[in-house]
Amino acid sequence: MCGIVGYIGSEKAAAPFLLDGLKRLEYRGYDSAGISLVNSSGHILTVKSIGKVVHLEQKCQSIQCSDMYAGIAHTRWATHGAPSENNAHPHLSGSGKFAVVHNGIIENYSELRKRLSMAGHKFVSDTDTEVIPHLIEEFYNGDFAAAVTGAVQQLSGTYGIAVLCADYPDMMITARHGSPIVIGLAGNANMVASDVTALVSYTRDVLYLNDDEMAIITPSHVEVRTINNVPVTREVSRISWDVSADGKGTFEHFMLKEIYEQPESVGNAIRGRIDLKAGNAKLSGLDLTPREMALINRIVVAACGSSFHAGLLGTYYFEDISGIPASVEQAAEFRYRNPIIEPNTLVLPISQSGETADTLAAVREAVNKGAIVAAICNVVGSTIARESGRGIYLHAGSEISVASTKAFTCQVAVLLMLALLLGRNRRMNHETGTELSQEIMRIPSLIQEVLKQAPTIEAIAKKHANAHDLFYIGRGCLYPAALEGALKLKEISYVHAEGYQAAELKHGPIALLDEHVPVVALCNDIPGKDKMLGNIQECRARQSPVIAVVTGDDDCCAPFTEDIIRVPASSRFVAPITTVVALQLFAYYFAKERGCEIDQPRNLAKSVTVE
Ligand code: M6R
Repeated sequence: MCGIVGYIGSEKAAAPFLLDGLKRLEYRGYDSAGISLVNSSGHILTVKSIGKVVHLEQKCQSIQCSDMYAGIAHTRWATHGAPSENNAHPHLSGSGKFAVVHNGIIENYSELRKRLSMAGHKFVSDTDTEVIPHLIEEFYNGDFAAAVTGAVQQLSGTYGIAVLCADYPDMMITARHGSPIVIGLAGNANMVASDVTALVSYTRDVLYLNDDEMAIITPSHVEVRTINNVPVTREVSRISWDVSADGKGTFEHFMLKEIYEQPESVGNAIRGRIDLKAGNAKLSGLDLTPREMALINRIVVAACGSSFHAGLLGTYYFEDISGIPASVEQAAEFRYRNPIIEPNTLVLPISQSGETADTLAAVREAVNKGAIVAAICNVVGSTIARESGRGIYLHAGSEISVASTKAFTCQVAVLLMLALLLGRNRRMNHETGTELSQEIMRIPSLIQEVLKQAPTIEAIAKKHANAHDLFYIGRGCLYPAALEGALKLKEISYVHAEGYQAAELKHGPIALLDEHVPVVALCNDIPGKDKMLGNIQECRARQSPVIAVVTGDDDCCAPFTEDIIRVPASSRFVAPITTVVALQLFAYYFAKERGCEIDQPRNLAKSVTVE
């Protein structure tokens, strides 16, 4: 989704930093880009373009960038108004004195626009953002910071903004409410970004802004205060993990690279967290005593997309392994339906990015209702991680491809360890705990086994790549895997795919089956397999081609199909992980065969920061 970068520092460095920062944010998904630079004589120069950052870069080549010490830049993912140069950020005030980039949605923009228009302001875009520079101008009486303060106090909705003022070429102001802003400190320069990925090659010392805070930034100084002018002392955080996009290496796409990284990323997620001797897991970030854990009487997971699927699987684990009633909710539904949360409810927000607006809203709702909130996030220092106060990091490394792969498998591994810990805290004995611990330790090598099947999976995917509709069916722990497999396919191939509980198929969806609708049947050797074989027969009776996932050299599906994907034998708890890795490969090769843009699929954003 939209990305912000800002720079204030040495001569000539502003434009190259901003363009590089935008490229580092490309993975988030966008449809236009723009940059504003201010020079020492108080002139703001703005360049915008539709499409990729490289187009913006080409346009910038013709401009004179010396004497430009400060600038702001943006990648826009269209919400209010189509992708166009007029709608691209930065947006300027009527006099051109102020330039603003904005992430989030201003919910009262039409009311503000009406009011400003009556006062003589002229608008040139369809965006909600454009009211911000106009509002700042309206409040301006020579004091830049006071004007920004006055303006943001009028906004409702969400914003992360960076602002330039032609009268203050050595100052940049940023503020946030609901959209992340991080400030990078680089000695002779200071920077702003909506995502630390843009900064990390320049500095690892950062300040995170909290909601309703702003920062007044010069090349040598950063002053943080609330938007009500209360001074704030903020500790510098050091980024110790690798967030850089290392490049694709020998892989054609980031998605394929990230699929292949899973033995290592899951290895990192479980490293040091399994105590084989005790048959237990150690999750220090959870920060709960055994007594506090024993008092948890319900678990509610709140998440979106792939993280929701991981959470659904987590509920199977918590009920089956830990013996704790558990449910999962799409985060926005959780937030808006006034959920019942008791003091001993553990709420688990799950988010790769840690910035998903709906999940963040759910965190705030849960905190407000007095729940114990523990986030499962990948991005260290993200808003959800910080506001939850406790949690478990994935250590999956940066995930660049929009379609989540390694974050999903790490989320599931973390949920399995959490279920083990809570189970051992209750009725699970040492022997069962040791068996499950050993099974968790095997996950990286089991994934490695699946990756060896890539050529077979590629051939099967190519064979079916003309299909326009697919069903994915699974039972028990494999039902969330069916949902995740279907999501992967639709995200990157734009082909309609639905995940279903295998038993539900005959209650309606079976009406859609015919020889043109393949069914991906998850028929691993776990409880429910016999019933699954019956469901496969039902699909074949409607002439649907079947693509079966089975355990090892199991021949159970041979009578129905020759398209068989084999995953190694494992417990029912680990089978969804190996199966999803196979389905990720299937989706990848299917989309590749159709010539789709895999890493940045149309309409999608890596981090969905609007509700
Ligand atoms: O960063 P999050 O895990 O909170 O993101 C949630 C979803 O937006 C995300 O999982 C989305 O569904 C992915 N594109 C899945 O591949």
